[in-house]
Amino acid sequence: MSGRSTFYVTTPIYYVNDVPHIGHAYATLACDVMARFKRLDGYDVHFLTGTDEHGEKVEKAAEAAVLSPQAYADKVSQSFRDLIGAMNYSPDNFIRTTEKRHQVSCQALWGKLVAAGDIYLGKYAGWYSVRDEAFYADDETEVGADGKRRAGPVGNEVEWVEEPSYFFKLSAWGDRLLEFYEKNPRFIAPDSRRNEVISFVKGGLQDLSVSRTSFSWGVPVPGDPKHVMYVWLDALTNYITECGYPDTTNPLWRFWPADLHVVGKDIIRFHCVYWPAFLMSAGVATPKRVFASGWWTTEGQKISKSLGNAIDSAAVTAEFGIDPVRYFLLREVPFGNDGDFQRRALIGRLNADLANAYGNLCQRVLSIVAKNCGERVPAKGTLVEADVALLDRAKGLLAIVRSELDEQAFHRALISIWEVIADANRYVDAQAPWALAKTDPVRRDTVLWVLAETIRRVTLLVQPFMPDSAAKILDQLAVPAEGRAFASFDRELTSGTVLPKPQGVFPRFVEAKVAS
Ligand code: MSP
Repeated sequence: MSGRSTFYVTTPIYYVNDVPHIGHAYATLACDVMARFKRLDGYDVHFLTGTDEHGEKVEKAAEAAVLSPQAYADKVSQSFRDLIGAMNYSPDNFIRTTEKRHQVSCQALWGKLVAAGDIYLGKYAGWYSVRDEAFYADDETEVGADGKRRAGPVGNEVEWVEEPSYFFKLSAWGDRLLEFYEKNPRFIAPDSRRNEVISFVKGGLQDLSVSRTSFSWGVPVPGDPKHVMYVWLDALTNYITECGYPDTTNPLWRFWPADLHVVGKDIIRFHCVYWPAFLMSAGVATPKRVFASGWWTTEGQKISKSLGNAIDSAAVTAEFGIDPVRYFLLREVPFGNDGDFQRRALIGRLNADLANAYGNLCQRVLSIVAKNCGERVPAKGTLVEADVALLDRAKGLLAIVRSELDEQAFHRALISIWEVIADANRYVDAQAPWALAKTDPVRRDTVLWVLAETIRRVTLLVQPFMPDSAAKILDQLAVPAEGRAFASFDRELTSGTVLPKPQGVFPRFVEAKVAS
């Protein structure tokens, strides 16, 4: 074992009832950036994503597709796996809840809940939403103008369910949960979600139905196989299955408790109320943090299958490139807020931030270097105040980005990086290295060295966000592979190093004219 600090980050596992869209791509992207950053920062990282394949919703979707649930799950799970390449994610594993090891883990956890005296057999009579795979109290539902009962005014339809069911004594966990939130102020983020969860728990918790008998597509309850486990108990357990649960001698157990579960705002209750209660009951450590991301709409509309407006990430990345889409999603909207995916905004950012600001800086500097400095890293002469000021800002970026990412403030991390890019562009204009070519070539070389060194630092930090583009720029600066981790952040460019031919990395996007 390495002795390095561990960092375990997880995405929600995606239901296989639907094909992936940009909303799904988003949570995994956030986790990917966290995982890449922490790897570069020297952590022993484990990054998990996967699919949630049991439950009534999936069983019904399989029926509609005239496939067995397993065949259906195999097919749709693959489309989520394909997102990994389409968005250049770097997960360490992709888990499926239909794996045998997961069944073992769920049943072991169930056994612990039983042993703790927190499970009893009863009968569920209440509302259930198959779309949400969630139970609702009477006062959480309302009947709309169309006569249909929903979970809240804009929620999904609910149906009346009455069946024998095992219950988890959630009602007994309210005070312990409130104490847990109090002692772990970083557990739920952003703050608005934390307040939402605390007031939900303060409102009083009811026991939770944790098994179903009206269908069979799930993990059988040990000793009573007419029951399958409630899909959320099954799904949440994936995070510990991956680490080997119940075998805590598994080498991957070193990653538990997870450092970060990224989830959508709609599933915060499952992760921040049910999950810690299950774990505390079973005597398993609780995760350190749950961050709830907001939801994307597209051109002002809810993303939905029926509207047919689901943005397919493969189509967007084919048109704009993977890295620009990754940048846009994390730069456009503060993580935690809702966002609207607008083509115009994406093109705007791509041209302004990537082509004009960053791309142009690299292109200008590297092409002057190639023409004037013999295709080598220029000679670093005596630094003047303006040089030191720019270099210091670039040096300070690592600590800033590190602390922003510890809060999942991706947009603020990017803003800080782009401020230094803007400073560097102003410095190029002010120092005018092209004009120094004749008057003071020594000074010109120093200016170019300062710029190349600034680009190197900025680009090291761009790596988690735009891995391929950053790699191309670092190649052009001849930064060796072992010089790309943050341990080498202060290893400055060596004058005289031979450089390859520069190439543009962020072309401008010009919208094709539609013939009228
Ligand atoms: N299977 C559960 C999660 C179990 S985790 C132990 C589930 N699956 S889901 O496929 O319905 O949703 C997965 C994630 O995608 C959720 O976090 C959800 O919030 C997110 N999104 C679905 N549509 C979205 C948008 N339009 N925008 C952003 N995120 C969205 O819930």
